[in-house]
Amino acid sequence: MKIGIIGVGNIGGTLARKLHAAGHEVRVANKGGIAGVQKFAEENDVRPADIPGVIDNVHVIILSIPTPAIQQLPGDLFAQLAEDVIVIDTSNYYPGMRDSHIPDIDDGLTESVWVARQIGRPVIKAFNNVLANTLQQLGSPEGTAGRLAIAVAGDVPSHKEVAMSLVNQVGFDAVDAGALADSWRQQPSTPAYCCDLDAVAMRKALADAIPGVASAKRDRLPELFSTLGANPTHEQVIAMNRKVNAV
Ligand SMILES: NC(=O)c1ccc[n+]([C@@H]2O[C@H](COP(=O)([O-])OP(=O)(O)OC[C@H]3O[C@@H](n4cnc5c(N)ncnc54)[C@H](OP(=O)(O)O)[C@@H]3O)[C@@H](O)[C@H]2O)c1
Repeated sequence: MKIGIIGVGNIGGTLARKLHAAGHEVRVANKGGIAGVQKFAEENDVRPADIPGVIDNVHVIILSIPTPAIQQLPGDLFAQLAEDVIVIDTSNYYPGMRDSHIPDIDDGLTESVWVARQIGRPVIKAFNNVLANTLQQLGSPEGTAGRLAIAVAGDVPSHKEVAMSLVNQVGFDAVDAGALADSWRQQPSTPAYCCDLDAVAMRKALADAIPGVASAKRDRLPELFSTLGANPTHEQVIAMNRKVNAV
């Protein structure tokens, strides 16, 4: 497939490499026009693009930018997009830490529902509930015992099917997490969030989530993680997430 990725940081950059390795034609864009992604594209054998170019004539678009940055994309960017083009959102909302406040989400709107409303079309939420390090290092072939899982939520079954296939292709079991409105169950500080779970544990974690409790835990993360020092190991981060996110 032709896949356009907006954002080539920890998650978007890793997905670009892995999806290229899986045989897809990948193009990438960030804030800096073609010049801004030229070096990344050359080093990773993908195509550099600007924002209009990255979505032109692709089958899948992956948005991998901070949540508030969605508002900085051109307002009519997706207006002419065919209905069968799949948009995947990897974002997580960290107000007061990395992100400026978005009142609708602060008032309880599910993060990717807000994203879908901003861009005016359905989105699939995926790749948000794994750490970048997990995505880079801990994928494994389909059928591997204990293979880690990624939750996938969305409202268009055909779009979700493709997103779940991409999850599988980059080394993870895809777990159907329901409709986009259900994707609060995979947001930061829920039991399913960035805990390196296999598919069985992921399904249980999604079911265990309790509405309204995660954002308060999320807001305490800087204080909690400061106890781990400046450079915690992956294992320390996962252990902290499991402890904090448990219901
Ligand atoms: N890091 C993780 O472990 C992790 C895990 C799961 C999900 N996520 C979520 O996935 C998203 C990306 O995370 P990340 O860690 O990959 O972020 P990151 O490393 O900070 O990279 C962000 C990317 O977004 C681009 N960008 C920012 N604003 C933009 C705009 N207005 N237009 C176009 N491109 C823009 C940046 O481009 P410039 O260089 O031009 O600024 C950069 O390439 C976030 O929402 C994050 O919460 C992160």
